[in-house]
Amino acid sequence: MRVAELNAIARAMVAPHKGILAADESTGTIGKRFASIGIENVEPNRRAYRDMLFGTPDLGGHISAAILYDETIRQPALDGTPFPELLTKIGIIPGIKVDLGAKDLALHPGEKVTEGLDGLRERIAEYVALGARFAKWRAVITIGDGIPSRACLAVNAHALARYAALCQEGGLVPIVEPEVLMDGDNSIERCEEVTEETLHTVFDELAIQGIALEGMVLKPNMVVPGKKAPRQAGVEAVAERTIAVLRRCVPPAVPGIAFLSGGQSAELATEHLQAMNAVANLPWALTFSYGRALQDPALKAWGGSPANVQAGREQLARRARNNGAARDAAYSPAMEAA
Ligand code: 13P
Repeated sequence: MRVAELNAIARAMVAPHKGILAADESTGTIGKRFASIGIENVEPNRRAYRDMLFGTPDLGGHISAAILYDETIRQPALDGTPFPELLTKIGIIPGIKVDLGAKDLALHPGEKVTEGLDGLRERIAEYVALGARFAKWRAVITIGDGIPSRACLAVNAHALARYAALCQEGGLVPIVEPEVLMDGDNSIERCEEVTEETLHTVFDELAIQGIALEGMVLKPNMVVPGKKAPRQAGVEAVAERTIAVLRRCVPPAVPGIAFLSGGQSAELATEHLQAMNAVANLPWALTFSYGRALQDPALKAWGGSPANVQAGREQLARRARNNGAARDAAYSPAMEAA
């Protein structure tokens, strides 16, 4: 596919007022989410849950694109329409998670490498036929004693670039997601250092492998202290450090950056996005590609009951609306009460 076509899709994914709904939880991960509301992780429940999310009225007003899992892209909504077709009809671009998960990295205890390159060219062709226009691959970087190692950064960057090349060859916009986890007790300074080294390594490898930066979207973590860190950081500090690292590492040819939420609360993730978009003259669009920070309130309100579908949809609509406002630097926490 020509770079101009990939660029048009990438720009639509990060369009003003909008962001990306990450609904690509693997069967294992959605099981953890369902366990939190006490429902069984079986196909009819997964289908009903995604039907609840995607059936939200006017979802396309603030959601540009949705990332699906392999099962979902092949599944029909409750009215029989295949999910990718239903999304396309309401103006939401369907995409697909193509990685097969983070596995233990050999000889490097505590570190992971993401797998899924074997046969990827053929899987991409199949996903294109099913309606996907973009893909996602998530690499996981853990901060700890003496880690991340250079090996961990190198192998994950290499795999991200191989994945991105296969996507662009096959006509999909790659979302390149190197996630530095926020689970530890590290300082915000340490997260800044590791995020910077990670992004430099990733963009080096993207250049070596010839990726067209105009035809991709970056999905990074924000620069935050670990969840168990004794000193937490204010919204402004997170915004300033995140923007500073992105300016050092991400070429302006990249049309947009769509953040993951990574375990931040729904409202804090919105406040961070707002503070970053309030900074003038950014070279890229900055938006959201949240999973938990968009879905958690909806998941709780729904609780697995058909009687609560509307309540769930109202929660998702609120998060989409408020994050859409934050993407335009027009959000204030007072809007949560509306
Ligand atoms: P969270 O926003 O819940 O971190 O999920 C985003 C995602 O797609 C992780 O791969």
